[in-house]
Amino acid sequence: MPIIEAVRWAPGGGAVRIIDQTALPDQLVERDLTTLDEVCSAITSLSVRGAPAIGVAAAMGLVVSVARQAGRPPSEFRAALDGAAERIRATRPTAANLGWALDRMLARAREADGGNPSAVVEALRAEAGMILEEDRAMCRRIGEHGLPLVPDGSRVLTHCNAGALATSGIGTALAPVYLAVEAGRRVEVFVNETRPLLQGSRLTAWELSRAGIPVTVLTDGMAASLMRAGRIDLCLVGADRIAANHDVANKIGTYAVAVAAGYHRIPFYVAAPASTFDPCTGSGDAIEIEHRPAAEVTHGLGRRTAPEGVAVHNPAFDVTPHELITAIVSDTGLVWVSGRQGAARGGRG
Ligand code: MRU
Repeated sequence: MPIIEAVRWAPGGGAVRIIDQTALPDQLVERDLTTLDEVCSAITSLSVRGAPAIGVAAAMGLVVSVARQAGRPPSEFRAALDGAAERIRATRPTAANLGWALDRMLARAREADGGNPSAVVEALRAEAGMILEEDRAMCRRIGEHGLPLVPDGSRVLTHCNAGALATSGIGTALAPVYLAVEAGRRVEVFVNETRPLLQGSRLTAWELSRAGIPVTVLTDGMAASLMRAGRIDLCLVGADRIAANHDVANKIGTYAVAVAAGYHRIPFYVAAPASTFDPCTGSGDAIEIEHRPAAEVTHGLGRRTAPEGVAVHNPAFDVTPHELITAIVSDTGLVWVSGRQGAARGGRG
């Protein structure tokens, strides 16, 4: 079981302590965030990333961003709080957990608002702590509900990182894997490297290797041929936002995995906590997709890998339509989405 705390309070509670995920897998570096600028840039730069961890970091980051303003008059404090929340909200648009956590924090501030900013800060600190603890517990429950999907001998394909690094607990997509291994089952994980920022090879491979779980890194175009060869039993991925019709936004490349899994009749599972569900967005077409700088593609491997001036398309996420999703594993149980459960073992037939 991984002991990885991607986001937590620094001792004394004056800072949000994160693992700087941009330094992995070379170095395990922790950073303390104490200002609004630091919180926003840590989220934008993907130092802290993964939808649940972003939500937790946003809530805790809001606390440290406004704590020093508690001496100001209530109306000024309130304006500072609203302004900080809006700046954090604008950092990354696709992960539902970010807005969910901030809305919850602002609601708590309204409840606690008796004209005393210090009391509001303390109420916000308590709420952020609850968001952190609840996320940890939701990951565990996702693992428990997903455990039957990962029998002994499973060969699991995942994409990006939806593990401990992406949450405050044991992850979402990787939670059933961790619990299956804890239960003594043999599980092998294949992970797409996940271009352009390599969350699969840098992060998922790092945390699984650290936990002693066999993991094989693939480049992003390799999975379909492994499916065809009958070497993948199931796919398990995370989610950034789940629309009301169960279309799922997740890391760019997820849709291609789902299409290949559908063709080969391999179960395709999505794991996500309640905070990722967005009942106000009807379908995947209405999900805002974050587009990131071209340099992530043209210089992603530390050197120029595309000619100067070439056009670049760099959406951070894509949408997998619900027809391709076998089930969603949430903290409250399994939601069977498409009725397509796949073959008992991989392979088209
Ligand atoms: O851009 P990232 O690294 O934040 O993208 C992360 C993903 O797409 C994850 O699969 C998703 O957030 C779920 S994390 C439990």
